[in-house]
Amino acid sequence: MSERTLVLIKPDAVRRGLVGEIIGRFERKGLAIEALALRTMDVALADQHYAEHVERDFYPPLRDFMTGGSLVSMIVSGDEAITVVRLLIGATDGRKATPGSIRGDLSLSNRENLVHASDSPESAKREISLWFPELAL
Ligand code: CMP
Repeated sequence: MSERTLVLIKPDAVRRGLVGEIIGRFERKGLAIEALALRTMDVALADQHYAEHVERDFYPPLRDFMTGGSLVSMIVSGDEAITVVRLLIGATDGRKATPGSIRGDLSLSNRENLVHASDSPESAKREISLWFPELAL
């Protein structure tokens, strides 16, 4: 069943020149890019996007990191895209992510882990309406 998921290529990936590498992995898998924008996240959007994390100890440095540079927001679609994209990006902590995944190959950090992707159909719907309100279903 075709699904849509929200992907952010985070500021560390943009700074490191890894945008093409990361998008290429999604394309080579057979997923489609339905929408793509280079933008910055302000604090209000960070607090909404990461609503479930705002009380966590790791949130203030995460917010500073995510609002500290350009990022790429995307809607990625395809068969079981939510699960497939999460598998492609790997575990949250780049030090523990499986080699072969984006984080496993390219990140050594639990925070600066290059990519965010929706973790469920409910999150995908909520996050697509935050980042691409004009394309929300
Ligand atoms: P992401 O998939 O965007 O979802 C929440 C983000 O919080 C996560 O990727 C990391 O960037 C960050 N994060 C999660 N857990 C930790 C942690 N223990 N320490 C630092 N950052 C974290």
